[in-house]
Amino acid sequence: MSLFTKIIVRDSLVKRSFASQTAAATQLRNILQEQIDGIKKAGTFKSERVITSSQKTQINVSGSDRNILNFCANNYLGLASNPDVIDFSKKALDRHGAGLSSVRFICGTQDIHKELESKISKFHGREDTILYASCFDANAGLFEAMLTPEDAVFSDELNHASIIDGIRLCKAKKFRYKHRNLEDLEEMLKTSEARMKLIVTDGVFSMDGNIAPLDKICDLADKYNALVFIDECHATGFFGKTGRGTEEFYNILGRVDIINSTLGKALGGASGGYTTGPKELIDLLRQKSRPYLFSNSLPPPVVATGIKVMDMLMDSDQLSQKVSTNTKRFREAMTKAGFTISGQDHPICPVMLGDARLASMFADEMLKRGIYVIGFSFPVVPHGKARIRVQISAAHTTEQIDECIAAFIEVGKELKVIS
Ligand SMILES: Cc1ncc(COP(=O)(O)O)c(C=O)c1O
Repeated sequence: MSLFTKIIVRDSLVKRSFASQTAAATQLRNILQEQIDGIKKAGTFKSERVITSSQKTQINVSGSDRNILNFCANNYLGLASNPDVIDFSKKALDRHGAGLSSVRFICGTQDIHKELESKISKFHGREDTILYASCFDANAGLFEAMLTPEDAVFSDELNHASIIDGIRLCKAKKFRYKHRNLEDLEEMLKTSEARMKLIVTDGVFSMDGNIAPLDKICDLADKYNALVFIDECHATGFFGKTGRGTEEFYNILGRVDIINSTLGKALGGASGGYTTGPKELIDLLRQKSRPYLFSNSLPPPVVATGIKVMDMLMDSDQLSQKVSTNTKRFREAMTKAGFTISGQDHPICPVMLGDARLASMFADEMLKRGIYVIGFSFPVVPHGKARIRVQISAAHTTEQIDECIAAFIEVGKELKVIS
């Protein structure tokens, strides 16, 4: 084949769509399009804004040439664009390569994977840690590996979707208690028979910024000989005085049996998740946990991000103090201005608006003023409880926090949310 013919063939391949045109494929398209239309009609279709800068407090968004202040990332400590973290991560790329092309147990474990697991164990004061590609995977892989039909699991009704899915996969008896309701939980613990009982809760619930009554949950666990599991995705690294999370917030460090968390939010924001807890549990998960056994190892630059962040957090609690000061400033000023902010003491600050359309309009008006926030409505939150979820970061300056508050007040008055 001449070079000319090769180019023509290549170009025609590039241009050609390989989309199947069979009757079955057409039927599939129609069925799916109907669902998509339904979602659009319900006003709950999610479109994605394209960020053209790195993740930080001031971002650039495709289609806009202005700098936008970002108040909707889980970048609680501002470490996603920290120069020291990026530099450390780049060096790992040079030294340890782009990826492992293997799962951990075949040939995918490097010295840095073991180093990160050991640092996470030290940070949480636990015996051992196992890394996953995400906390979604950690939640999907824990319950099935650990619990049998002889056991029972007690789960808060508003736990994260990944916990719900993980519990679905296991064969234990399942109980769902009312959100943060200790009486309901106690009744279930009291009346159920099982070899092992495991209470499962988010440490911090991300839609409301509210916190599980963990001290009292641990009391109930002691009373009924149960274990406690918490998902700390919205707590690790920044919540509690030194960022140890919900246990530290309640001053009960070490009472929880098992912690799952993410490297994809405060801890550098790359990706990855983990389970930390008793050595025998971690040993067993390495043998049996399906998302660990059958999925690729975390890539070296991501692992290095975690290592650097762990070192920084174990060195100083300055960042968790800063996010706490920023949060206090925002919550106090917004409440004084007449807004209702859900949750307690947490950088997730949901500004409650009620009406879905109002929440969406409010967010659009904020964007016109250069503030990027997102309106949440049904089905993500209950009907009539639409809100704008503001997320505060240690990287926000006092001026940026004040700018956000000023925009809220201006839009709030314009849309008659406050007077
Ligand atoms: C409470 C909670 N658990 C688990 C996850 C999943 O974490 P990852 O992004 O690491 O999969 C999230 C992320 O949204 C979360 O908010």
